[in-house]
Amino acid sequence: MEYKVCSSEELPNNSMKAISIQGSNILVCRSNNRLFALANSCPHRGASLSKSEIKDSKIICYMHDFEYDLITGKLLHIPSKWNDQNPNWTKSDNLLLFQISEKNGQIYIKL
Ligand code: FES
Repeated sequence: MEYKVCSSEELPNNSMKAISIQGSNILVCRSNNRLFALANSCPHRGASLSKSEIKDSKIICYMHDFEYDLITGKLLHIPSKWNDQNPNWTKSDNLLLFQISEKNGQIYIKL
């Protein structure tokens, strides 16, 4: 089902917005003029990704600096400072991504 998120002006380039739709916490962002929508919960330990940094098409979680690809959702990098951690602790799923689109000055996502 498609839901209206906000107007295009409310999500300028290199910005993000945390929203709640149907009880789901979602992060929408625009980076390098490309739109992304994902669950606002880090797949590693659940930190809010809206506090994280987005660089091009990657997001780096503020909690432990795991880096994920916003296009594929895949985990790309775990910082070497965590090399001594138990391998179970460093396990992470990929990002949960949603379809996002822009039509007539409005932004929509599909859940
Ligand atoms: S909770 Fe996001 S990297 Fe650990």
